[in-house]
Amino acid sequence: MNKQHSPAALRNRTPIAQILEDILPESGSVLEVASGSGEHVTHFARHFPQLTWLPSDPSAEARSSITDHLQESDLSNCLPPVKLDASDPKWPASLPRGTELHAIVCINMIHIAPWQACLGLLDGAAELLPAEAPLYLYGPYRRAGDHTSESNAAFDAQLRQRNSEWGVRNLETVCEEAQDRGFRLDKTVEMPANNLSVIFRRTAAAQR
Ligand SMILES: C[S@@+](CC[C@H](N)C(=O)[O-])C[C@H]1O[C@@H](n2cnc3c(N)ncnc32)[C@H](O)[C@@H]1O
Repeated sequence: MNKQHSPAALRNRTPIAQILEDILPESGSVLEVASGSGEHVTHFARHFPQLTWLPSDPSAEARSSITDHLQESDLSNCLPPVKLDASDPKWPASLPRGTELHAIVCINMIHIAPWQACLGLLDGAAELLPAEAPLYLYGPYRRAGDHTSESNAAFDAQLRQRNSEWGVRNLETVCEEAQDRGFRLDKTVEMPANNLSVIFRRTAAAQR
């Protein structure tokens, strides 16, 4: 058994699914970047049976956990996990040939990876998503450079101590980078435990 369990994923999957209900298309394929344990994608595939889900993670342990969760849940609308490192500029080529995406979801990744992973995520999403398709990000953010809570500031310090390239990102900086790649900010939604849902929509043409 390689199944991993994330208490945070169990806590936030229901509020996240409530936001996804409003933004995901009625049909099509959704890529999850950084699926981790696989508990989100399993939950979402059950919650949104009309969509096809494609989990991914660069970590072999994570992919093994995702596979185990999926096997146990016996879902027919979730594909096997793909090895995908968002900081690799060629990551769109990691997807199964002919994949057409209608949305991308990425939960709690951009602060626990080098900044290049956030930029690579935006680059690849811009390449793959059609106009108006959503890119959904979830996690803690600084706003106008400031932390939104003491607990987020402490978490940021812990992250930076573990890896100097990690850290809670500034929302406005992420928005600027997204805009440069042809996304507009659709909305942000405050979530439990000082997290944010950040929803971008692909505009017709990228500016880069
Ligand atoms: C904190 S975990 C979050 C997992 C899951 N999304 C969740 O919320 O439970 C961070 C995940 O990001 C993945 N990750 C780290 N660097 C990445 C990268 N460059 N590209 C894609 N995923 C990455 C890790 O392997 C790990 O599974």
